[in-house]
Amino acid sequence: MLPFHRPSFGKREKAYLLQALEEGYWGGRTWTVQLEKALQDFFGREAVVVSSGTAALHLALELLLNGKGGEVIVPTWTFTATASEVVHAGGTPVLADVGPTLHLTPETLAPLLTSRTRGVVVMHYAGEPAPLHAIRAFCEAHGLWLVEDACHALPAWHEGQLCGTFGDAATFSFHATKPVAAGQGGAVLFRDPALAEKARRLRQHGLRRHPDQPWLYEVETLGWNYMLSDFQAAVALAQLQRAHETRQARQALAEAYQAALQPISELRLYPVQEPNHCGWHLFPVFWDGASEAERNALLKALHQQGIALSLHYKPLHLHPAYQPYVRPGQRFPTADKAWAEIFSLPLWPDMPLTAVQSVVEKLTAALVQVRKNR
Ligand SMILES: Cc1ncc(COP(=O)(O)O)c(C=O)c1O
Repeated sequence: MLPFHRPSFGKREKAYLLQALEEGYWGGRTWTVQLEKALQDFFGREAVVVSSGTAALHLALELLLNGKGGEVIVPTWTFTATASEVVHAGGTPVLADVGPTLHLTPETLAPLLTSRTRGVVVMHYAGEPAPLHAIRAFCEAHGLWLVEDACHALPAWHEGQLCGTFGDAATFSFHATKPVAAGQGGAVLFRDPALAEKARRLRQHGLRRHPDQPWLYEVETLGWNYMLSDFQAAVALAQLQRAHETRQARQALAEAYQAALQPISELRLYPVQEPNHCGWHLFPVFWDGASEAERNALLKALHQQGIALSLHYKPLHLHPAYQPYVRPGQRFPTADKAWAEIFSLPLWPDMPLTAVQSVVEKLTAALVQVRKNR
């Protein structure tokens, strides 16, 4: 079976992990500090590492909503955490349709604005940057804050600028399948260093330690245990140090897929935008005009031939838990069409280039097989 994803690691991950093990504290100290420093050097922004991308979103939204509630516009085309954490931070997610690249755009945001709108969360789907300059200008014009859910985009560049450096906050995930992986983990970047300081306290139960007597502490605010262990931080640090190299490997695989898929007229490639640099966390493909049932039959046929595919995403407005957040009469035509047609092909940094050809051959055969039953 060709897996959909397999983590890539080398000598450095092993060495750092062993050092973290031998250093003895384990609970998140020297390695989390080093990882935060490395993220700060990478992005030029204050970074706070946490236990997951979900925890990162929660802290960012908690601090930006600041106990006052309100509406936050999120794309329907995303993972549940982008929207669930708005609710957990006391806000109301407002689901928006997406544009042709499956990102929020000013056009999909505009009809949803109300006097209660506080902010926007964009998600850099597949590692392709959202139209950040346009969205940031939209937010500025309407007095809204902007969060980048950059869990797919470490690293990716929008018109030469790193994703994660556009918004008031940006969140990353170190989940096993992500471009910088540590099993679990995450990070949040803030434009305002004062918010980073608050997040650092909230991730450890809202404790403030006495400056000279560290055995003394006060619970200043109610927080959470969102610490990252030193083991995870050690692996994430090694992964971050070769993030450019692994992105290059993803890019090479993506280009090989693009070349091999181009001649198949029924398939449409995901439209990456020049001069962006996509992180290629995912390699999505559209089967033009397919129904959901046909797309599912295609995935089943490929699975039977030993190719693991995946779906990103079933839009949030189609899930039971998000029904209360769909406005009466609201429509999501772009997301609905994409949901029927899309699937993601296997892509991970150590995947051999020869596997691309084999995936495409089996995909071509599966298309013929499913088409026959149309
Ligand atoms: C777009 C997006 N946001 C947030 C998350 C949540 O990250 P984590 O799994 O680290 O909590 C994920 C992870 O699957 C994701 O893909």
